[in-house]
Amino acid sequence: MKTLYFTGTGNSLAVAKRIGGELLSIPQEMHKKEITYADDVIGLVFPVYYGSLPKMIRDFLGMVKFEADYLFAVATCGSGAGMVLPDLQKAAEANDIRFDYLNALVMVDNFLPVFEIESEIKRLPEKKTEENLSKMVDDIEDRKEYVPSISLKAKALAPLAKKMLQDKIKDYSSQGFVVNDDCTLCGICTTVCPTANISVAEKITFSDKCDSCYACVHACPQTAIHPKKEQSDKRFRNPDVSLQEIITANNQLK
Ligand SMILES: Cc1cc2nc3c(=O)[nH]c(=O)nc-3n(C[C@H](O)[C@H](O)[C@H](O)COP(=O)(O)O)c2cc1C
Ligand code: SF4
Ligand code: SF4
Repeated sequence: MKTLYFTGTGNSLAVAKRIGGELLSIPQEMHKKEITYADDVIGLVFPVYYGSLPKMIRDFLGMVKFEADYLFAVATCGSGAGMVLPDLQKAAEANDIRFDYLNALVMVDNFLPVFEIESEIKRLPEKKTEENLSKMVDDIEDRKEYVPSISLKAKALAPLAKKMLQDKIKDYSSQGFVVNDDCTLCGICTTVCPTANISVAEKITFSDKCDSCYACVHACPQTAIHPKKEQSDKRFRNPDVSLQEIITANNQLK
């Protein structure tokens, strides 16, 4: 089994670890000339951004070739998966990929402009994260086939929600981040960035390749990186994942 993952703050990596198999980080795999995988079971685990797919996953699905008996994907999210599963199916089908199992797991929401981390952690029992994750792990072990259908209401609301978010997305990516004077130029933010979007010299500068993963914002040891709007200055990393694992998964500076 191979489990390919993309993560900013560790939720998706923690899920990938629980599912098991050979763990492969998508930002690192993207450097290969040919992105082809053959195994009995192959899966993807990644976060939901704005009710849809991260650009990283969209790009990956456009390039990858899978040879597998069973193909699964789990999207991790904080409140609602929106259109991520239909968007995933659409992007996959354009490259002749068909998933046998698709699901979404509600975890801590790391989107600081709207969610407060301490409240999010308190809400985990209510979100039934552990219970639902155990069920998904069993489903995948049992090779269960499951592709959820999307309600007509969700389908109808999706274009409106996307339009409303469109203007905000720029503000909530690195183009809207402010780095304050607490920055010690330690460089950690540059090593957790999966798109090599951050440079450190006399100050931190962001380029225009941000995928909004929020890894830099949450990993900064000085809490020096702030999105335009945030509910508090509390930061998050999934407790089952170390900073070194995020660096290994995302570092593009090697
Ligand atoms: C820019 C951004 C947008 C997000 N949009 C959504 C969303 O539309 N719905 C949702 O439920 N969670 C959303 N989230 C929360 C993440 O999907 C969730 O916390 C995820 O588990 C993070 O995974 P990671 O720790 O592997 O990066 C968003 C997070 C970020 C940073
Ligand atoms: S991780 Fe924080 S303190 Fe370190 S260089 Fe980046 S912004 Fe500065
Ligand atoms: S700049 Fe920060 S939020 Fe943007 S892709 Fe890099 S680590 Fe993620």
